[in-house]
Amino acid sequence: MRGRNDHIILIGFMGSGKSTIGIALSYKLQCVLSDTDKMIEKKEGRSISEIFAENGEAYFREKETEFLEKLKNEKTRQIFSVGGGTPLREENRRLIRELGTVIYLKVSPQTVYERLRGDMTRPLLQGDDPMERIKTLLGEREEIYREAADIIVEADGKKTAQIVEEIVKALKGENK
Ligand code: S3P
Repeated sequence: MRGRNDHIILIGFMGSGKSTIGIALSYKLQCVLSDTDKMIEKKEGRSISEIFAENGEAYFREKETEFLEKLKNEKTRQIFSVGGGTPLREENRRLIRELGTVIYLKVSPQTVYERLRGDMTRPLLQGDDPMERIKTLLGEREEIYREAADIIVEADGKKTAQIVEEIVKALKGENK
């Protein structure tokens, strides 16, 4: 390891499977899973959609950074699933890299579209043309996700178990 914490951080676009993979990986590695979106919702006592509607995206981004700052105090190894936009801020990328090994779950716009069709909980994907929105945002973020990651897992069309196996194998390679 590179002199930093031993946690695992899952990053990737909305609908890339961070929550699902996070749960399966937490069983496999027998460690706690924490979802920063859920932590923010709990602390704020309202949903992300409400936070965006009432205080705007910038306020939410501030909360993401505040929560990341707190995570460095966690001592036992954990898996952190962070929101799709978390790596956008340079400060957040630094914070997640300090936390441990960063895993990017890479999916295509088509996969995101199919998984999140009809979803009302992602304020950034609401509107007349969600596919166009997904393509634009993913296009803007792809390079950022790549650069933030230690491990990139191609998640399109794969079952959860297979992705978990790939992650476990890659983690072993990282810790050699
Ligand atoms: C966002 C992703 C969401 C949530 C918020 C903004 C983004 O989390 O943090 O709606 O900017 O990509 P998920 O990636 O868990 O959907």
